[in-house]
Amino acid sequence: MKSFHPPEILLLGPGPSPVPQRVLDALARPTVGHLDPSFVAMMDELKELLRFAFQTRNALTIPISAPGSAGMEAAFVNLVEPGDKVVICRNGVFGGRMRENVVRIGAIPIVVDDAFGTPIDIDKVEATLMGHPGVKALAFVHAETSTGVESDAAALCALAREHGALSIVDAVTSLGGIPVQTDSWGADAVYSGSQKCLSAPPGLSPLTFSERAVAALKARQRPVQSWFLDLSLVMGYWQGGGARSYHHTAPVNMLYALHEALLCLSQEGLEASFARHRENHLRLCRGLQSIDLELPVAERARLPQLNAVGVPAGVDEAAVRRRLLTDFGIEIGAGLGEMAGKIWRIGLMGAGSTPQNVDRVVDALGVCLGRRAA
Ligand SMILES: Cc1ncc(COP(=O)(O)O)c(C=O)c1O
Repeated sequence: MKSFHPPEILLLGPGPSPVPQRVLDALARPTVGHLDPSFVAMMDELKELLRFAFQTRNALTIPISAPGSAGMEAAFVNLVEPGDKVVICRNGVFGGRMRENVVRIGAIPIVVDDAFGTPIDIDKVEATLMGHPGVKALAFVHAETSTGVESDAAALCALAREHGALSIVDAVTSLGGIPVQTDSWGADAVYSGSQKCLSAPPGLSPLTFSERAVAALKARQRPVQSWFLDLSLVMGYWQGGGARSYHHTAPVNMLYALHEALLCLSQEGLEASFARHRENHLRLCRGLQSIDLELPVAERARLPQLNAVGVPAGVDEAAVRRRLLTDFGIEIGAGLGEMAGKIWRIGLMGAGSTPQNVDRVVDALGVCLGRRAA
């Protein structure tokens, strides 16, 4: 066996996204102890950078030491107890995973289904909350990566408040690419992933809890059943003021990388990042139309960072993806769940969202489909 050297692939799938050299350089810096004073100072900056990205002043804003799925699980296990009623909006694969979390806790999921490829229907959610008094939480995916659809997070968080429920928001694919306005939405638990629009490697899940969410955590009847994800323990390590206690050994170098990636975002500015994602998405739409490919999601609900593209009739979608990878060094995603075989997913996330990448993928797709000269 030899050292592993991965091929150079342009990552234009549903994540991970391309990681800038600057972030890789940060990852390669010397490992220090996770209670080293220099590291502890960096952790404080990291929390502040996460507050900036989440647009919040929430004190409990930290990266969970595991991928986005752990952020999802942390939100549910800390806020939901056995027997609680939870309204889950399911318009894609990740809404289905939320339901799975609720079931495993021994809580009662009340699922509001919408067709994959369409946004969450706010009226249906309101009717469901009215029909089920005493719901503990309303959970939804802001940016459904499986379908490329954005839902109205502001309206859903407002509905949760009106009905006395906590809101749990999956912002894995949205953070950094489209506005995530935690405080102005009044969202209670929002989690994300490092590998999408933040362009750090996969493996960390930024998470923020409102004061209401922290109060709900403190008021629990039973201890959180996951020791590792119990935020009342994890907080002991992430709190400021030099009183940190050991909980688990933090993924030190990954945290350097996330710090650097968030620094890139803060130097670009949130609004500039959102505008860049939007412009490159529009360029992609024009490019795809020029080779007669369709975008099945309604224009107003399209995510700029994750583009669902209809597979033309008679085309072997897996063969096209294989050729993109082998002949052009480009990764795009397949459809997930009930969208398998029907769509490709082109991610223009974080550092991957550039005009050059858009042109590269459109040209390569055109060649693979015989709609453009090689
Ligand atoms: C919307 C959404 N939620 C949750 C996840 C799970 O994140 P991870 O794969 O980092 O565990 C993903 C990953 O693609 C996602 O897109």
